[in-house]
Amino acid sequence: MKLFIDSADIDEIREYAGSGFLDGVTTNPSLAAKTGRDYVEVLKEITGIVKGSVSAEVLATDHDGMMAQGRRVAKIASNITVKVPLTWDGLKACRGLRAEGIAVNVTLCFSPVQAMMAAKAGATYISPFIGRVDDCGEDGVGLIRDIRTVYDNYGFTTEILAASIRSVSHVRESALAGADVATIPASIFKLLLNHPLTDKGLAAFLADAKKAGVEIRGT
Ligand code: E4P
Repeated sequence: MKLFIDSADIDEIREYAGSGFLDGVTTNPSLAAKTGRDYVEVLKEITGIVKGSVSAEVLATDHDGMMAQGRRVAKIASNITVKVPLTWDGLKACRGLRAEGIAVNVTLCFSPVQAMMAAKAGATYISPFIGRVDDCGEDGVGLIRDIRTVYDNYGFTTEILAASIRSVSHVRESALAGADVATIPASIFKLLLNHPLTDKGLAAFLADAKKAGVEIRGT
């Protein structure tokens, strides 16, 4: 499973890129707004740090506007993926941008039929928002499972990018459900290795070695 960070914060992105585990980045207008900086400048900086896919979301809602903004952000770097909303205009823009060789992430997906339509439009990634689905009392991970089934039934190659992740359990369940990618906020990324038995076991190993004078010498 590929791991993306869901952030437009340069410090956070630099930190996780340095860990060697970061396969890409997703941004959206809300994350861009939090930076208080120019979105294009932020995207330029991110693409200089991360070699994998960097999603840049359009702000236009009509086809022509999305095409123009998509082309504009795609020029920033070769690893930009243009993010468009799951609307008729968005899917038309998806088809148009894909025809020009531009990668597209179709966002705001809340149903398997929406995901099927995005795949038929040639989307590179589909982003089901599992946290927001859970917020409505529905089953976010179930949505990933259903999309996996639909895509496998018909051989769609669009990658399932689990988005709106709120917990390590979301990452685990998305991996088990067959998501290709998870985009994870920094607050959850840092918890991925946490387990109390790892900490307890390490402390016990080190205490036993110290007590008995066990050392590693030589080269
Ligand atoms: C990523 O592509 C999405 O924009 C993001 O994961 C949405 O997450 P949220 O529901 O926590 O805002």
